Amino acid sequence: MKRGDLVVAEVVAMSPQGEGLAQVEGRTLIVPRAVPGDRVEARVRGKQKGRLLAMPEQFIERAVNRQEAPCQHFGRCGGCRWQDLPYADQLRFKEGLVAGALAERDVRVGAYLPALPSPSPFFYRNKMEFSFSTSPEGSLMLGLHVRGRFDRVFDVEECHLQSALSNRVVGAVRRHAAALGLPAYDLKTHQGQLRFLVVRQAVQTGETLVDLVVAQYPNPEVDALIAAVLAEVPEITTFVLTLHGGKAQVATGQAQWVVKGRGWIEEVCGGLRFVISPRSFFQTNPLQAENLYAEACRLGGDLEGMAVLDLYCGTGSLSLHLARSARSVLGVEVVAESVEDARNNAQCNGLANCEFVAGTAEEVLPALQREGKRFDRVFVDPPRAGLHPKVLAALGALRAPQVVYISCNPLTLADDLGGLETLGYQVATVQPVDMFPQTPHCEVLAGLVLAEPAAG
Ligand SMILES: C[S@@+](CC[C@H](N)C(=O)[O-])C[C@H]1O[C@@H](n2cnc3c(N)ncnc32)[C@H](O)[C@@H]1O
Repeated sequence: MKRGDLVVAEVVAMSPQGEGLAQVEGRTLIVPRAVPGDRVEARVRGKQKGRLLAMPEQFIERAVNRQEAPCQHFGRCGGCRWQDLPYADQLRFKEGLVAGALAERDVRVGAYLPALPSPSPFFYRNKMEFSFSTSPEGSLMLGLHVRGRFDRVFDVEECHLQSALSNRVVGAVRRHAAALGLPAYDLKTHQGQLRFLVVRQAVQTGETLVDLVVAQYPNPEVDALIAAVLAEVPEITTFVLTLHGGKAQVATGQAQWVVKGRGWIEEVCGGLRFVISPRSFFQTNPLQAENLYAEACRLGGDLEGMAVLDLYCGTGSLSLHLARSARSVLGVEVVAESVEDARNNAQCNGLANCEFVAGTAEEVLPALQREGKRFDRVFVDPPRAGLHPKVLAALGALRAPQVVYISCNPLTLADDLGGLETLGYQVATVQPVDMFPQTPHCEVLAGLVLAEPAAG
């Protein structure tokens, strides 16, 4: 089989990235847009991570009734790859992805619980990050990345994951920046001005934070741009300008100015109030985050009188939920600004039984264990990379009776659950929690209990 060949492929599985997988002539084919049960005619286009990539040209049989994607950017945008799949099927495929990843690592699971659907499958995001770029014709672009291309952006007219106000902000910034002749930052030449636009809107309070990331400042044209946008969209609660002169394409920077408002917004989650600053992590689907935290607390059982550890705590959103019934909660988080927010959040919500430490989990946890600290429950919510080996080792030595694991990556979750099993934990329950409808991304909640040490 070679590039350009047309093959008939029966899609039998799904890759962890949510693409169809088929076996043809003993080779594994990645078939984007196809799902298990589909039979497609597909053209071999090349290789992807050692496997052949074949694009479907015709669906001979469809396992699922596709629906019309509501978004005009569907197919081109790297974001919502599953918009044409009915929501019930998306949930079913996520359950399969999680179970498949855990089975691959031979993780023994007491019970798989059905995926928890998101309260709203569209317009659920409270944060979107947009990139500036220049079109081949030379015009300014502001939008999201073309699927599979880190270096290509398309103009977003309307995104179905963010609020109508966020869409208005994007349109206004693009129009005024073009009228002022402000150039986009160029990834190759490192010339130009505009880099990123981050829009965060709290779902419960409606407060909106806009963060514009530029390559040079002071600059009167940037000031004129901000003034024009604020005049057109007065609902923006706070506007922050970030200077990022470095080459790395990340929406952070070396200096920041608050141009309007307090520089942060407030969100309500589970009846608690949270400050969100530009650099702080906050779950991007806040309505579903309420369900995630409620389920995580439930998995921890009756926390009365208990000492709880919350590793990777961000701005303390889970910690505060736990602190309402626990004796004490210790949160550990690497971003100092988030730790500051977490302390303020605890104080604003009148929860005096929370403490927060700034540092990496891999440094702080072994230190706590050496000091002889004991915890009745440990909650972990690491980034996609999963738990650091030092965190795993320290958890083995701490021997908390129960661990609750929140994961945004089933692959590293599978590795870590395997590691925790060898430390004497049993995986009692696993439940996907759909934080990211229309995408293959999957959040998972796992409850673990420490088994009695084997006799002898
Ligand atoms: C998935 S978020 C979870 C935050 C929080 N539990 C929540 O629900 O909002 C992961 C958090 O881990 C933090 N983090 C990343 N690497 C870390 C490390 N090595 N040690 C401690 N925290 C880390 C990130 O800054 C982020 O706030």
